[in-house]
Amino acid sequence: MQRIFSGIQPSGIPTLGNYLGAIRNWVPLQRDHECLWCVVDLHAITAWQDPAALTQQTREMAAVLLACGIDPDKHILFLQSSVRAHAQLAWIFNCVARLGWLNRMTQFKDKAGKDREAASSGLYVYPNLMAADIHAYHATRVPVGDDQRQHLELANDIAQKFNHDYGVEFFPAIEPLILGPAARVMSLRDGTKKMSKSDPSEQSRINLNDDPDAIALKIRRAKTDPEPLPSEPAGLEGRAEARNLVGIYAALAGTDHAGVLREHGGKGFGAFKEALAALLVEKLSPIAGETRRLLADPATIDRVLRAGAERAAAIADPIVAETERLVGFLRV
Ligand code: AMP
Ligand code: TRP
Repeated sequence: MQRIFSGIQPSGIPTLGNYLGAIRNWVPLQRDHECLWCVVDLHAITAWQDPAALTQQTREMAAVLLACGIDPDKHILFLQSSVRAHAQLAWIFNCVARLGWLNRMTQFKDKAGKDREAASSGLYVYPNLMAADIHAYHATRVPVGDDQRQHLELANDIAQKFNHDYGVEFFPAIEPLILGPAARVMSLRDGTKKMSKSDPSEQSRINLNDDPDAIALKIRRAKTDPEPLPSEPAGLEGRAEARNLVGIYAALAGTDHAGVLREHGGKGFGAFKEALAALLVEKLSPIAGETRRLLADPATIDRVLRAGAERAAAIADPIVAETERLVGFLRV
């Protein structure tokens, strides 16, 4: 059975992008893989997080994952900062990855923005920590949204260089799993930007805890163009906002762009947005309800996370200890 690892940052309320690009695709993988699901708080602090908010968001993220169908008994749900192996292996990978590799990372360029000098050094080496997350478990499959593809290529480059430099076949190659018709959900205000929990505009995203009125309002206000919907996918070319809404609908309805356009092609956005908002409310309300129920009992969530961390450490600690031996650290 192949081992899966994936992570999500507790840097805000999870969005529809996290749900369609990641979480929702994780659930069925649990049927035929051994899975580790990690709330990556070490990654979250690469950008400033208010401490009290971080604590709260971390628990909320765990609750959302449970509400979406992550199974903490058959699989492992845990916090990254609870398992020391991540930071230990990340340091070794800091010494394997080359500056030239990190300089090509587009997410760093996006997140650092114009004032690159003011970005944290953690943000710069973020992909090395992500590689450590995966390789600390010898995981071989990693489900992510399309935006993480480049980081996974880097994780493979790190594994290869480590194996080469130390003359071993220790870290396996990893295979990205980029799933579904909505692997990249875009902002509701700008079809060229990805939907993000850290976007300053609330109107740009659907949060998984939005109530039905908020969902309907955000969809009604979503940016579109004046043309009606085309009847075939080719007609979405050059219409980023239309393409995004059709992709969201397709993912939620379990079809593809062509399927949505067969049903809604020729309609104006007024009518299509009504249908989309109804579908969103239908699919997201149960998750919001279950999340609220779980959060009413935080001690139970914390217990689940503590047990997960113990089981995760039992896998990662020996792998990191072996890595340290290969590097030549004297064990005394
Ligand atoms: P993050 O919110 O950056 O921690 O991302 C957690 C997971 O959600 C990763 O697998 C991302 O690729 C995925 N993800 C985040 N934003 C989007 C988006 N707008 N569309 C699709 N997937 C996304
Ligand atoms: N960097 C990922 C993101 O922002 C989150 C992440 C951290 C991750 N470690 C990981 C995803 C390991 C997959 C595997 O989306």
